[in-house]
Amino acid sequence: MYSLYKNNRGNPLFSVYDQLLPVVNLNQNFDSLLVPKNHVSRQKSDNYYINQNYLLRAHTTAHQTELIQMGLDNFLVVGDVFRRDSIDSSHYPVFHQVDAVRLCSKHDVFGKNITSEHSLFEEREITEDHQSCHSDAAVNFLTQDLKSCLISLATSVFGKDVEWRWVSASFPFTHPSWELEIKLCDKWTEILGCGIIKQDILKNSGVREKVGWAFGLGLERWAMKLYNIPDIRVFWSTDPRFHEQFDFEDPSTPVTFQSYSKQPPCINDISFWLPEEGKYCSEDFYDLVRSIGDDLVEKVELIDDFLHPKKKTRSHCYRITYRSWQKALLQEEANVVHQKIAEAAQNSFGVQLRC
Ligand code: PHE
Repeated sequence: MYSLYKNNRGNPLFSVYDQLLPVVNLNQNFDSLLVPKNHVSRQKSDNYYINQNYLLRAHTTAHQTELIQMGLDNFLVVGDVFRRDSIDSSHYPVFHQVDAVRLCSKHDVFGKNITSEHSLFEEREITEDHQSCHSDAAVNFLTQDLKSCLISLATSVFGKDVEWRWVSASFPFTHPSWELEIKLCDKWTEILGCGIIKQDILKNSGVREKVGWAFGLGLERWAMKLYNIPDIRVFWSTDPRFHEQFDFEDPSTPVTFQSYSKQPPCINDISFWLPEEGKYCSEDFYDLVRSIGDDLVEKVELIDDFLHPKKKTRSHCYRITYRSWQKALLQEEANVVHQKIAEAAQNSFGVQLRC
């Protein structure tokens, strides 16, 4: 979004709002977005109502009108959203969305050579393709700008060769509306919703001479597709084996998620005095641990490297994480393997165990 939309000084046009409180009122989540009073999305069974007036936002679109009222023309809203839903590998009561809004004036649409002939507005019958107040020029410009922005977003994330298609959709706050689908593993999957903002929303927010588009997408869904993550619950894991897989600076780094055991670990430390310089290296120990512990060993870390100040002897302490793929390992079972490793290290490298 930053590289696509810049102002004439080269600064990003879109500003990001990601600290807005998730508790919103009915006006923010529904009424201001023209969601009808009897719309299914308002149901108690689908939302986390706090009382008659407040709920946990069900979409980041809930902040659209307040930000437009503040005078913003180009913005992104990022946040957690809350929905009561079925339980399966792709649904969780809280997930994250990004919404975007872009408002355009006559000058954005018609450029420099604008004349009095050019208008964003025209009174006519509403059709599938346009609202009752928008001119063809306004609709065509917004549609083209919105769609090219989203294709560029989707291809920059999923690769330039990804197959995509537009499917017509319906949202109370946009008309016309679309969903973007991409083909993954031979299956068409919906990845976002978007459309031309209903002019009444802008009018009610005090905007007169502008038209605009909006989109919203679910971040977990994108991440699950992009990294091949099979279960939405792992996003809530505090397990470093999850987070370490995404520990890189460049967001375009290709990653395929590697699943890991959900069984609990047993963690044992071993520390020993090393033989004289040059007769031992940590890699020798790692090989030995692997050959004895086999698949039960998940990780070996050197957690202490100590040089005795007087004797000038060195000791190493390693932390070994034992974990089975099949079952919850008992501490006694881990101890047996750990004991074997200790004995083998003494015999093979002449190290001296510290108590
Ligand atoms: N709020 C919609 C959703 O949660 C997405 C959306 C946002 C659609 C903005 C159109 C415009 O599905």
